[in-house]
Amino acid sequence: MHIIPHSRPTLDEEEVRAVAAVVRSGRISQGDEVRRFETELAGQVDATDAVAVSSGTAGLHLALAALKVGAGDEVVIPSFVCSALLNAVRCVRATPVLADIDPETFNLDVGDVRRRLTPRTRAVIVPHLFGLPADVREIAALGVPVIEDCAQSLGSRLSGAPAGSFGVLSVFSFYATKVICTGEGGMVVSRDAGLLARIRDLRDYDEKSDDRPRYNYKLTDLQAAMGIVQLRKLPIFIARRRDIAARYDAFMNEYGIPTPACPPNREAVPYRYVVRTERMEEILAAGREAGIGYRRPVFKPLHRYLGLSGYPQTDSAFASALSIPIYPSLSDADIEAILDPLRSILPKKLR
Ligand SMILES: Cc1ncc(COP(=O)(O)O)c(C=O)c1O
Repeated sequence: MHIIPHSRPTLDEEEVRAVAAVVRSGRISQGDEVRRFETELAGQVDATDAVAVSSGTAGLHLALAALKVGAGDEVVIPSFVCSALLNAVRCVRATPVLADIDPETFNLDVGDVRRRLTPRTRAVIVPHLFGLPADVREIAALGVPVIEDCAQSLGSRLSGAPAGSFGVLSVFSFYATKVICTGEGGMVVSRDAGLLARIRDLRDYDEKSDDRPRYNYKLTDLQAAMGIVQLRKLPIFIARRRDIAARYDAFMNEYGIPTPACPPNREAVPYRYVVRTERMEEILAAGREAGIGYRRPVFKPLHRYLGLSGYPQTDSAFASALSIPIYPSLSDADIEAILDPLRSILPKKLR
């Protein structure tokens, strides 16, 4: 059986050569390649500088630490997101406050964020979920520092400006299956040199004049060399993702299924292709049978980990949101194979 996983990195001999060159150089930890990767990524997202870290989670942790968020402080995050955000908030001993999502975009519902602010709120983490820019300016206008979570949205734009250029700090992930990858890895970008200096200090414990707690959250030159190659391929990756999304849109239109929302002034990067269906279990089962990685795009909403209720849009999204494979290395034949099992399950639009 030809297995089509839900996601997969897109790599070729260029990455192999770049990593091999670092191996041959003998300088395999954090060094010149990391600095180059930081400069190139910062340039892409209109930031003045960037600090590379070992993962997106590490980036979120250090972003909160740099803002001096700590015990007794509250941080608003969505419920419909991976548990990395919950972990990052807990790493600084702050209290996570969950907000519900907008049912159209799956991003944070600005009104619900507003309702959940208290005098103790010290930050809001705003993911641009599935590559669609969130209402980050409206949330920033609530007066609380915004950390943009761009783990899924490198290359997307809002009103012409890159995702990652709106928050006081913005965090990227380069996990193996992200828009660009380094295996594991992340980056924090900002236009605030003071905050970045704090993050740079916190990611490495060695040769410090005081003994304040610091971490080992460094990226290696092996990873950065791969990241630089991947970053140069970003326009090709995005174009291919958009082509695949256009094919999926045409298919969904045939079946009368609403395609992923893209409100005005947004240029999404289709990192995930997510549609609503009432036939979730049937489709997941058909995928297991055919070797196709259909998935729920969020493993478990955060309010369910915390035993909370009052998140109706997140519950509805968890019940009905289906993610079908989308990544640059899919062939046209793969794409048709992905759609094929859906033909017999989805009811066709009545014309
Ligand atoms: C929205 C979001 N934020 C943060 C992360 C965490 O990134 P990492 O896996 O690099 O720690 C992820 C990764 O899955 C993510 O999707």
